[in-house]
Amino acid sequence: MELPDYIKAKKRTKEKVEKELYELDDSLKKIGSGKKYFLKTYGCQMNEHDSENIKAMLEELSFVEVDNYKDADLVLLNTCSIRENAHNKAFGMLGRLKHIKEKDNPDLIVGLCGCMAQEEGVVEKIIKKYKWVNFVFGTHNMHRLPYILNDALQSQKQEIEVLSREGNIIEGVPVKRESPYKAYVNIIYGCDKFCTYCIVPYTRGKQRSRNPKDIIREVEELVKEGYKEVTLLGQNVNAYGKDFDYQYTMENLLEDVSHTGIPRIFFMTSHPWDFTDGMIDVIAKNKNIMPYVHLPVQSGSSRILKLMGRRYTKESYLELFDKIRERIPNVSLSTDIIVGFPGEEEEDFLETLDLVEHCKYDNAYTFIYSPREKTPAAKLDNQVPEEVKEERLQRLNKVVNKYFLQQNKKLVGQVLSVLVEGTSTKKNELFGYTETKKLINFKGDESLIGKIINVEVVDAKTWSLDGKVVE
Ligand code: 5AD
Ligand code: SF4
Repeated sequence: MELPDYIKAKKRTKEKVEKELYELDDSLKKIGSGKKYFLKTYGCQMNEHDSENIKAMLEELSFVEVDNYKDADLVLLNTCSIRENAHNKAFGMLGRLKHIKEKDNPDLIVGLCGCMAQEEGVVEKIIKKYKWVNFVFGTHNMHRLPYILNDALQSQKQEIEVLSREGNIIEGVPVKRESPYKAYVNIIYGCDKFCTYCIVPYTRGKQRSRNPKDIIREVEELVKEGYKEVTLLGQNVNAYGKDFDYQYTMENLLEDVSHTGIPRIFFMTSHPWDFTDGMIDVIAKNKNIMPYVHLPVQSGSSRILKLMGRRYTKESYLELFDKIRERIPNVSLSTDIIVGFPGEEEEDFLETLDLVEHCKYDNAYTFIYSPREKTPAAKLDNQVPEEVKEERLQRLNKVVNKYFLQQNKKLVGQVLSVLVEGTSTKKNELFGYTETKKLINFKGDESLIGKIINVEVVDAKTWSLDGKVVE
């Protein structure tokens, strides 16, 4: 049994990160024969992509996917730690699974992985109160799933293997992609920023960039397979390459990926601190790097930003924001905002509203501050009362929503390039996404799915656009 350890998880060393190849022992390839699995994913795109790997690994073991957990022999939860409600959802699901195990299916195998598995408190709770959970593994040893699962099946006791040091970058892990048109590609793992509210540097470990050659090769393969879009993924993609002992940055990577022939490139998430002028130029210059930048601000108050450890002020953020808007034609900008960080006063919150009024974001993800285990902000004693946080969130949402609609309305009458993704269930229409990630619904033939076409915007709503195909 190997358990998470926050002191180790926090350590950052200069140790060189090596590359290792995923290997599966032939003897394991039938352990899932005749068995069905259900995988539930919580959290961000990083987790969604990990789940694509997990599914492929399970299927190499002969498990077959089902879409209802009640039909499964194996249920695995790929969890998220970012806020308390992500925790609650996962524990709620564990409650339902316990019930099934007690009443209907005592042989049900239950596993938990992902970010919550990296938390000391969660694993303690699972050992003490959730003894019926069969296995737990963390974010650093996901590739060990076949072996951990096999041990759990053989031993009939709880198997827990969570590493607190990140180890090597594993290449060659199989992947079952959700979409045949757009793909996630990891470029950097972990985060070294240690914003004071955030648990990610503990759950995902130190910053480790993937070798550029492996990334380019993966994108080239995707192009050959007919993919139209990639999203380059990382907790802080702008820090890409900073851990190499040679000079190769996000700017270089974007340029090189743009020459693979993939029609659309997105990247996320960016920290304002590492966003260089060079990056702006590369995005502006290359037609297949999409004019969409997710630039989390978190707060509009420089005082709160300092307490958050964000390393920029309201003014320097706005300078960067304006530069991006000016230099990248038709760019769309989105953000993340937290309300109710410890010590946030009404006047700090008003600074955030003021910033939103200036930025008029195309999209914004707004959150109530949630204290996370062992992070510096959770130890501050001036926590904001729940009802104040709720009230601020509502006020903030009103303002951001106003601008989503306003920005969308500007697009009415324009002809936009759209990747058609499927049929929308509600209205018997097609849907797709524009180059700035706007959802657009329109009538059209199903043969258009998977193609990039021109669509004229005829109407704008807060969350989507309506369009018509331009022949
Ligand atoms: N409470 C609330 N929101 C958080 N985020 C990260 N940590 C917390 C927390 N403790 C938000 C940030 C980040 C996004 C992914 O989640 O806005 O950018
Ligand atoms: Fe959640 Fe962060 Fe883990 Fe993504 S990396 S699953 S957002 S805790």
